[in-house]
Amino acid sequence: MLGVPELKVRISMAMTADGKTADEEGEWYPLCPYERERLYLHMRWADAVVIGAETVMNTDISFMPPGSSGKPLRVIIDPSLRTDPRRRIYSSKKGPILVITSRRSLLEREDKVGKLVEAGAEVVPLEQDKEGKIRIAELIKLLEGMGIEKVLVLGGGKTNYHFFSENLVDEYYITIVPRILGGSKYSPVSGGSFPFPGLELKLIEWKLCECGNEIVLKYSPVR
Ligand SMILES: NC(=O)c1ccc[n+]([C@@H]2O[C@H](COP(=O)([O-])OP(=O)(O)OC[C@H]3O[C@@H](n4cnc5c(N)ncnc54)[C@H](OP(=O)(O)O)[C@@H]3O)[C@@H](O)[C@H]2O)c1
Repeated sequence: MLGVPELKVRISMAMTADGKTADEEGEWYPLCPYERERLYLHMRWADAVVIGAETVMNTDISFMPPGSSGKPLRVIIDPSLRTDPRRRIYSSKKGPILVITSRRSLLEREDKVGKLVEAGAEVVPLEQDKEGKIRIAELIKLLEGMGIEKVLVLGGGKTNYHFFSENLVDEYYITIVPRILGGSKYSPVSGGSFPFPGLELKLIEWKLCECGNEIVLKYSPVR
């Protein structure tokens, strides 16, 4: 019997050779045209793209591949409703946006909810735990109920951490970029940690980028 296909979660990130995903100010975008194309390919694969509030505020792009509209659904995790409806993700009007927030923000920030709805987003509350964390398993359930089968998580590190900590990642792509940023607080998984020796990953694929200077790694967590 054919069952309901299982939802797949893929994370895609790039980091410098010293493990940073943005500079001190939170700035990051792909410098290599092939990496940009890989990012678009991941976006085209996905039914939904998930992005954390901080990335939406620091990276002013639509989070849609060129030429597409309607798909993928863009999902912003924004418990305090701090994302700005003037950011391109909202203002480019390229398709549906789901803002996942807390019940409290939904009740107490009516004005902001109104502005986000005006910008074309649907604002949906999910339960938070004592630390204010929204359970990713609840988000996945919500997306499954919407018929979503392929989820691309585009960071940043804190959002990625929540997916890893609930053991909900199937594929982890990381590109190593030949740059050094030093001192920044931004890394591919941050805001929480795992005891030594850390989560175990299996290397599935690797390749040298067509530019000859970046390495693309694909892992899957060992469950
Ligand atoms: N190199 C790359 O490939 C790449 C990719 C993406 C982003 N970045 C960089 O990463 C930086 C941002 O990373 P970041 O780790 O600081 O932030 P982030 O993951 O983009 O956003 C974190 C925020 O999202 C909310 N959030 C996400 N998941 C949540 C959950 N399960 N429960 C509750 N809240 C949740 C929280 O918002 P509140 O704080 O409002 O509670 C949290 O502080 C940006 O500057 C961007 O340039 C780099």
